[in-house]
Amino acid sequence: MNTWKLTKLTGHCGARLEGVSLASASTSQLEIVRSSLFEHGVIIIPEQHLSPEDHIKLAKFFGEIDVNRFFTPVASHPMIAEVRTVPEQPEVIGGTWHTDHSYDAAPAMCSILNARQLPPFGGDTHFASMSAAYRTMSSGLQNMLRDLRAWHSDGSFVNSTDVGIKPKKEAFRDPVLHPVIVKHPHTGAPCVYVNGDFTVNFENWSVEESAPLLTFLYAFITKPIFTARVVWEPGMVAIWDNRLVQHYATADYSGYSRLMHRITVAGVPLEAF
Ligand code: SIN
Repeated sequence: MNTWKLTKLTGHCGARLEGVSLASASTSQLEIVRSSLFEHGVIIIPEQHLSPEDHIKLAKFFGEIDVNRFFTPVASHPMIAEVRTVPEQPEVIGGTWHTDHSYDAAPAMCSILNARQLPPFGGDTHFASMSAAYRTMSSGLQNMLRDLRAWHSDGSFVNSTDVGIKPKKEAFRDPVLHPVIVKHPHTGAPCVYVNGDFTVNFENWSVEESAPLLTFLYAFITKPIFTARVVWEPGMVAIWDNRLVQHYATADYSGYSRLMHRITVAGVPLEAF
């Protein structure tokens, strides 16, 4: 770890790790990457240029690969999902704040994004710390949220043709319940676990009743103070923990292409804090 350099991106979210080769890192080195991930929520590692095989091997260190059932797979490596923008595409994949796979009963632990083709400007990814958001709330709000659970659904993929995703009918599953404040499975840290793409309503509350509190929470948890903005570099890899952060892909490079390869790693059912 002598030549490794870990630098925080912002006060509450993310770190940049330099001097490491993910493709040839030892198990003990990858354990340090994982503990840094649990501390900072998202780790960016420049100058990796991972092949699909390297990407899959890296993902398998973190756990079993959870193949996304909606995204287009990379033809030669179907365990990897394509996050592709073509010049004429009106929207981008992930262009609103969200948590990958929160619609699953055991939602993805982490996602690993590998930059393959970047636009000449823009296409940054924002991350927001859900543990910092929780810590900053009043105890009154924390206490109320700790008693709630919310329904999450994959229904928003019905309207995903604008981002080039054409889901098969059989991909859709029933909504699932998660605690609104989850306990991080490894560190025990409390994290807010509702997101604008997939959360529908609180348990035993109607959609209409849930909307004002959810709207407040989405604005609160994505305040700039909880965020970091990742400006992609060729060959960069980002690894984020989907319990600790939400993310948002910026659609500001109209007319240009962008291609990222994404692997999501399987997680566990989430417990209340
Ligand atoms: C995603 O939502 O997983 C994609 C993020 C990105 O393309 O920056």
